Amino acid sequence: MNLSSHDPVLVIGAGIMGAGIAQVAAQSGHPVFLFDVREGAAAQARATLARTLDGLAAKGKLAPEAAQAAIGRIAEVASLAEAASARIAVEAIVENLEAKRALFRELEGLMADDAILATNTSSISVTAIANGLKRPGRLVGMHFFNPVPLMKLVEVVSGLQSDPAVAGAVFDLARAWGKVPVHAKSTPGFIVNRIARPYYAETLALLQEQAATPEVLDACLKAAGFRMGPCELMDLIGHDTNFAVTQSVYEANFFDKRYVPSGVQREMVSGGLLGRKAGRGFYRYPEGVPALPVAVHDAPTTAGEVTVHGEGPLADALEAAAAQALAPQGWGPARERASGWTGLTVDGAALALTDGRTAAERAAALGRPDLAVFDLVLAPAPHRGLALAFALAPQASAGWAAQAPAWLAALGFAPLPVADAPGLVVARTIAMLVNEAADAVLQGVCTPEGADAAMKLGVNYPAGPFEWLAGWSPGGVIAVLEALDATYRGERYRVSPWLRRHVWAPAGAPR
Ligand code: NAI
Repeated sequence: MNLSSHDPVLVIGAGIMGAGIAQVAAQSGHPVFLFDVREGAAAQARATLARTLDGLAAKGKLAPEAAQAAIGRIAEVASLAEAASARIAVEAIVENLEAKRALFRELEGLMADDAILATNTSSISVTAIANGLKRPGRLVGMHFFNPVPLMKLVEVVSGLQSDPAVAGAVFDLARAWGKVPVHAKSTPGFIVNRIARPYYAETLALLQEQAATPEVLDACLKAAGFRMGPCELMDLIGHDTNFAVTQSVYEANFFDKRYVPSGVQREMVSGGLLGRKAGRGFYRYPEGVPALPVAVHDAPTTAGEVTVHGEGPLADALEAAAAQALAPQGWGPARERASGWTGLTVDGAALALTDGRTAAERAAALGRPDLAVFDLVLAPAPHRGLALAFALAPQASAGWAAQAPAWLAALGFAPLPVADAPGLVVARTIAMLVNEAADAVLQGVCTPEGADAAMKLGVNYPAGPFEWLAGWSPGGVIAVLEALDATYRGERYRVSPWLRRHVWAPAGAPR
């Protein structure tokens, strides 16, 4: 079943994805047949690839001989019959079930019985594509990411009838092509497009209730390590594409409210505010994301009581920062490790790390009207000026309204005020990403390690959902989700049974 680099590869569809797949296969030594129904499309793609490879050689990224050899291995074919000797066919045609089924039925009649059939579909069930084939076991998903030569991830997607040996051979082939393959079960969105939904959805939900501006939401999530904020990322992907993926995952899950698309985004699509390509999305282009205004804060004051509460690295970092802030006055903060919450009190007023509940609820529960909550701090190494969302309890005095951000600034953060929404921005988003990943694992879509690799390599997340979970706790994630559920009610924030089960598992126990 294993394929060698001498085995010919047939790539069908010479568009963005097909051309990239042909390039990667040819650079790995395979003879490649490239086919497209549109006359001239394969030849045009080959000519473009030749320029790309020459360009890489000119920049010194590829030996000129290697570039020449790779392009020499790609042959456009005018009919599929000319490529009958291929050992594997990788399909990257239009995203349409009937078109894909018809193509694979035709390929079955042309190729050897043991040739592998692979589809690059990003949203159609692999099980459905294989239905009707004489040998459905030899079809698997080989889901690349755009741009194919640069993106390391390949989801190897098995349908109900896919032969594990075929999935294994495609996994090995992807690895031989320099990729990082991850096994996935054919379910809506596979791994990446499913687990990533909350990254967009939570921001859209916050925008819908006017909790913050796109600039503030993007700044908060970039401070948490994401390369792009959700708003600028949706603008880059295109709101039409992003909305269509959300809709297809929603529909494929029988309209589960967990995946409900956003009216905010539908309005943008209807209005043609499609993002970067339209010159206007959340932002205007080419200008892009405007800089946030520089905020000026009052000097922090205290009548003499500053206490850092809680245990763990964040509480330790807060203690060090508070000590630095108080050093000029010749004294330092007290430390209270058993408070059951993380944060700071200043003369009885409180700055509390979010546990999911709103500042209003926390203020009432702690009996301290002067309270603000601040967001989860996820930066690997918090640095001065790190953007951090905070929300003030509506019960708070005008004095604490000015002092809460002043103290956050004194502790080294760039405080960004947002509405008193449960779970603020980062905690809410990360909790939902972890929850979605947990459900994917529960349903056998992927392993925790597979989910982590997929999210880091497929969408450049700074860490995988299970890595975030390891630095947080199932109980902490559940608390945020339950606070969200208590506020919004409905299916959206229901907790994955996988998380509930793992609350009781000892740290480091097998998953
Ligand atoms: P594209 O529109 O750039 O290219 C599709 C090509 O297939 C066109 O050149 C078209 O002429 C050709 N084609 C259509 N029907 C055909 C048929 N029956 N036989 C042979 N050729 C045919 O599309 P793109 O973006 O390359 O997508 C291709 C596939 O890859 C789709 O299934 C898509 O969902 C999937 N995909 C796309 C990604 C992306 O970011 N664009 C990412 C991952 C998967």
